[in-house]
Amino acid sequence: ASGSAGEIRWSKLGTSLPVANVQALVASAGELTADQIERYVQPDIDAHTVLPEHSGEVPVIDLSNLLSPESVEAEVAKLRFACAEWGFFQVVNHGIPDDVITGIKHDIQKFFQLPLEVKNAYAQRPGDLQGYGQAFVVSDDQKLDWSDLLALFAQPTQGRDMSYWPSQPHTFRNSVEDYSMELMKLAQTLNVFIAKTLDVAPELLADKHVAQFLRMSYYPPCTSMPEKVLGFSPHSDGSFLTILLEINSVQGLQIRRSGAWIPVKPRHDALLVNVGDLLEILSNGKYKSIEHRVTINAHKERLSISAFHVPNYGGIISPILGTIEEKMLYKAVGVEEYARLYFANKLEGKKALDYAKLSGI
Ligand code: OGA
Ligand code: NI
Repeated sequence: ASGSAGEIRWSKLGTSLPVANVQALVASAGELTADQIERYVQPDIDAHTVLPEHSGEVPVIDLSNLLSPESVEAEVAKLRFACAEWGFFQVVNHGIPDDVITGIKHDIQKFFQLPLEVKNAYAQRPGDLQGYGQAFVVSDDQKLDWSDLLALFAQPTQGRDMSYWPSQPHTFRNSVEDYSMELMKLAQTLNVFIAKTLDVAPELLADKHVAQFLRMSYYPPCTSMPEKVLGFSPHSDGSFLTILLEINSVQGLQIRRSGAWIPVKPRHDALLVNVGDLLEILSNGKYKSIEHRVTINAHKERLSISAFHVPNYGGIISPILGTIEEKMLYKAVGVEEYARLYFANKLEGKKALDYAKLSGI
């Protein structure tokens, strides 16, 4: 058992240098200097082709099929394929009540509409990953993402730091609470079926989802150079499993597959799930932590909320091998040590995972 000290340490695993608020920058767009713009221009943005014609192939998993004895086997096979071949899937019939989804969407939109001074009451403080600000700024000369965010540690509840939880709009805290609880349940359910796809006992995965970080992202439009900036640079998630809800219907998320970028079309009835680095390690590479990025629209803002599910702070993730012949491709890593490494580096594709890969393969 980790106790509350463990949970408090979670959010202190890294820090981000303060940089300009992008929403405010856009609001004052006339005054952008060449230097300011330069920091957001991504040189490698066109390095790989974008294939919108493949958007329709992104796997869809129907949770009600997983929960019904007649259809479970076929749906588990689909889930195994989605984890192994895509590292990403959309979940429909996820069972989260409509009012919970509507509530969180509404309140996040309202929060980002508040005046900057009000939002800044929840600003990130040095040495903490929570709060309102920008993520993964580790040096003064790195490229910056075209987004602002609000990050909160949500589970286990005793690890929360309420000083970061907005009290405006007045329903915000309740909406986050309800959404967070529902997602914990969904993550646990998915866990049971992911265990099935790996042919292991569900108990082996039961402790992999005990903590939850939430990140609410605001991606402002960029009128002058939308095709040159990114809302989120290419990265894989350091989590075990990430569950993402797109708050409005503006397209932006792209996932990496066979060397290309595939845009994911928002569908209002789905949650998006991706395999994180820790599940890649646990599955000994059978499941791939998918690289993804967020592009920016010229005229419309985009909002999303990601829920990162992670194991106990003091836990260790080691590959589960299917057979005695299977070669171990990753070493066992401490959850804390991996998280530190992940947050210390500017996100560069899947670089953090190299640390866990055994050499010579
Ligand atoms: C993330 C992420 C994608 C999005 O929060 O790690 O990849 O669509 N978000 O906001
Ligand atoms: Ni991500």
